[in-house]
Amino acid sequence: MKKIFDYNKKHLIECKNLTKKEIQCFLKESEKYIKINKKKIKKTNLLNGRTVFNLFFEDSTRTRTSFEVAAKRLGADLINVSVKDSSINKGETLLDTMTTINSMSPDVLIVRHPEEGISLKISKIVSACVINAGDGSHEHPTQALLDALTIKKRFGNFKKLKIAICGDILHSRVARSNIEILTKLGCKINVVGPKSLIPKDIEKVKVYSSMKEGLKNCDIVMMLRIQKERIISKYVPNEKIYFEKYGLDYNKLDYANKNAFVMHPGPMNRDVEIDSKLADDVTRSLIQEQVTMGVAIRMACLEILINNKDI
Ligand code: NCD
Repeated sequence: MKKIFDYNKKHLIECKNLTKKEIQCFLKESEKYIKINKKKIKKTNLLNGRTVFNLFFEDSTRTRTSFEVAAKRLGADLINVSVKDSSINKGETLLDTMTTINSMSPDVLIVRHPEEGISLKISKIVSACVINAGDGSHEHPTQALLDALTIKKRFGNFKKLKIAICGDILHSRVARSNIEILTKLGCKINVVGPKSLIPKDIEKVKVYSSMKEGLKNCDIVMMLRIQKERIISKYVPNEKIYFEKYGLDYNKLDYANKNAFVMHPGPMNRDVEIDSKLADDVTRSLIQEQVTMGVAIRMACLEILINNKDI
């Protein structure tokens, strides 16, 4: 008998369409994996014989290895496709590559690509489950889920929490997915950054261009990297001036609540968006905890999606 989860779809593409109940389903299922990941032997056989493909068309350390660890701890076979050695370089289209891989009967395709909406397109032509591991500036659902899990473990619940998301909001799929998830869970969100890096049509949040005002009464300050690779000839701030105005250090963290925590999805640019010492201060920074929770949430995602594929 297959399990019935509150999340009953076989793809995970965007947080915009997730309900609160569905988000909670992923968070709840992760709990058992948090425990397993603390054991000496972390391997389970839940996904024995299952095949998972990592298809990363953009650089990644955390997300790619986190999915690999998650799949292997569940007993699945994980194949990393090295895009730089693939037939994409011979002119094959991305959708042809996906159709080819789909013909090998995989269970899950994990896709990172610079094109917004590409995971959705792929999900329509393959029989495998598709997980969006970041599509351009659009969404990055598992990052937002792992951030929510990190917050839940630290604060117990989401009610009354106020979170500042700071920096390059305009190009950040992490910000977009987090705003969707955290507001649905009941958090209040401030976004803080230079006007040129805030989307004009942003909704569900309060917008600030001053760290002093934006961090007031916040329990969490989530810092973002400036996505230089996505900024086309627009405003690229001088790093020193940017750090002075928007870089989070101990002084600026004092604008937030007394015991406020710092988060960052990584990779960090030390002393550009975050003070190096603060980033490493485990009494204030949840950055390493986010990585740990990432494995648990991705184990839960793989389990739930493959279960739904089987029904
Ligand atoms: C983020 C991403 O790739 O969107 N990193 C991540 O997945 N942990 C953020 C970033 O690249 O700045």
